[in-house]
Amino acid sequence: MKLLDGRHTSEEIRKELSEAVLQRKKEGKKIPHLAAILVGNDGGSLTYVGAKVKACDQIGFESTLIRYDDSVPEDILLAKVQSLNEDKSIDGFIVQLPLPAHIDELKITQAIDPKKDVDGFHPVNLGNMVLNLPGFLPATPAGIVELLKRNHIETEGKKCVIIGRSNIVGTPLSILLARNSNPGNCTVTLAHSKTENLKEICQQADILIAAIGRPGFVTADMVKEGAVVIDVGTTRVEDPSRARGWRLKGDVDFDEVSKKASHITPVPGGVGPMTIASLMINTLKAMELKGK
Ligand code: GUN
Repeated sequence: MKLLDGRHTSEEIRKELSEAVLQRKKEGKKIPHLAAILVGNDGGSLTYVGAKVKACDQIGFESTLIRYDDSVPEDILLAKVQSLNEDKSIDGFIVQLPLPAHIDELKITQAIDPKKDVDGFHPVNLGNMVLNLPGFLPATPAGIVELLKRNHIETEGKKCVIIGRSNIVGTPLSILLARNSNPGNCTVTLAHSKTENLKEICQQADILIAAIGRPGFVTADMVKEGAVVIDVGTTRVEDPSRARGWRLKGDVDFDEVSKKASHITPVPGGVGPMTIASLMINTLKAMELKGK
């Protein structure tokens, strides 16, 4: 079994991006600037946004974190999105999801200028992805594809089963892996809560990807010998042995599944760092697309 080490692979990408920043500085060009909007105090979201800001610092990008209380009205958030759309100093920005129930996530996502939508969640960017046209790819799916590519995992002609059809992971990933490109050209099955015979379907997978947020859901009996297993889950579970009282657990029963898999991502240290690296790639691209 080989570990698909997202920390190591993302470190390679960060080095490449740092070099690009240094080069831009030498040429007197603008440094990429990412802004992130965070609403509320959800522990997971705080950790993710913190990691994104830290990655900007490490690479040499500028970053701005904008925070709101849980009770922020939707129109205030929409006005902020509009002002970031117009702010020439900001190259790309994200609104961390999920948002509180009184805010319409789709409305917020659709208000973002597609040219600054470095999360790739706007319908224009999702449409471009489907048609294989230039645009921003959603960070987690793009990070997974990059992890497969940089670790020389063959995808062409392979059976890929994705569990979970969310707008930000499963659905876009199913399109990326099925389209005619490299990595790509997989025969994709997108499984979800209504799927029948899930175990049998998973047993067929050469590449099995779990993105449902249910810790330990994928057990060894669901996995084919030699499969490549990608775990997108990051649920906080209680762990009294840790000072903070919790640890992150993936959707895959790592201890048992790793005995059968040819390659597997750990949690943490697998997909998570690749998501952040993809966001950084998109931010540099956002600035370059403007011709700055
Ligand atoms: N919530 C979980 N993943 C993501 C992501 O990639 N971007 C944003 N904005 N929110 C998320």
